[in-house]
Amino acid sequence: VMLKMDYFMPTLSFKDRGAAVLIAHCTSIGVDRVVQDSSGNAGNAVAAYCARAGIACEIFVPEGTSPKKIDMIRAHGATCTVVPGSRDHCAEVCREKVEREGVYYANHVYNPFFYEGTKTYLYEVYEQLGRLPRHLVIPVGNGTLFLGVMHALDELLAAGCIEKAPQIIALQSEGCDPLLRAAEQGLSVPAAVTPRPTLAEGIAIGRPMRGKEILGYAARYGVRFVHAPEQDILRERAYLAERGVYCEHTTAANLAAYRNYCARFGEAEDCLITMCGAGLKSDH
Ligand SMILES: Cc1ncc(COP(=O)(O)O)c(C=O)c1O
Repeated sequence: VMLKMDYFMPTLSFKDRGAAVLIAHCTSIGVDRVVQDSSGNAGNAVAAYCARAGIACEIFVPEGTSPKKIDMIRAHGATCTVVPGSRDHCAEVCREKVEREGVYYANHVYNPFFYEGTKTYLYEVYEQLGRLPRHLVIPVGNGTLFLGVMHALDELLAAGCIEKAPQIIALQSEGCDPLLRAAEQGLSVPAAVTPRPTLAEGIAIGRPMRGKEILGYAARYGVRFVHAPEQDILRERAYLAERGVYCEHTTAANLAAYRNYCARFGEAEDCLITMCGAGLKSDH
């Protein structure tokens, strides 16, 4: 089992990959003000790259977002508006502002430039190992990493760099699993769920806007969805910390899901698990 330390980024999560490309695009078309909704990490990344680019930025986050993430967003000079209610409601409030004021929606879920950035996750793995591992563990909320990886797989296959796609192990929270349920029921759109509280705040997306696209890729590549058992998250976080890896609660869920996968489907050899959020970000 290998861990890829993907929180070794300026804002301590993999979202920098997408934000760097998206905000470079905003600069190139002369955008001077953006808004964005986020569970925290994408907002952090967009706020940081906007600060660097001199673009005014407002981030909407749902209530309950880790205070450290909010502090970081504000430290980058962005306005951070905390919206009562769920993550999905927070997105609705942000989109109302976009429609009302016509401000640029620098959104990691809708904007295709973001995926050009998250795609680099898999390119980098290929470059670093000179191959792809047989199994990849990928967390899925809105699926920005998942879709980036899928786009990269399409391209690596088309370019003849790889002959066969790895087994993708996609994980969702037990408290919020619309894609896992849809995959199990053979649906092409996310199942209707009422999100329950989870320590894995980064993947608590009840209505993933690109759900149909995610499920389409999942069917095409034989992706297996598994839960990250809620009761295992704290234990796995401590397990990793004792070995020198201090990750976010949402990221400890990746290891919890890996073990769940092995228990259900057998040992997943040659497996790469992404460590995509740093521990200090979800400390309260
Ligand atoms: C640490 C961490 N892991 C995984 C995810 C899931 O990313 P996505 O919602 O794009 O699937 C997020 C999203 O914010 C996150 O912050």
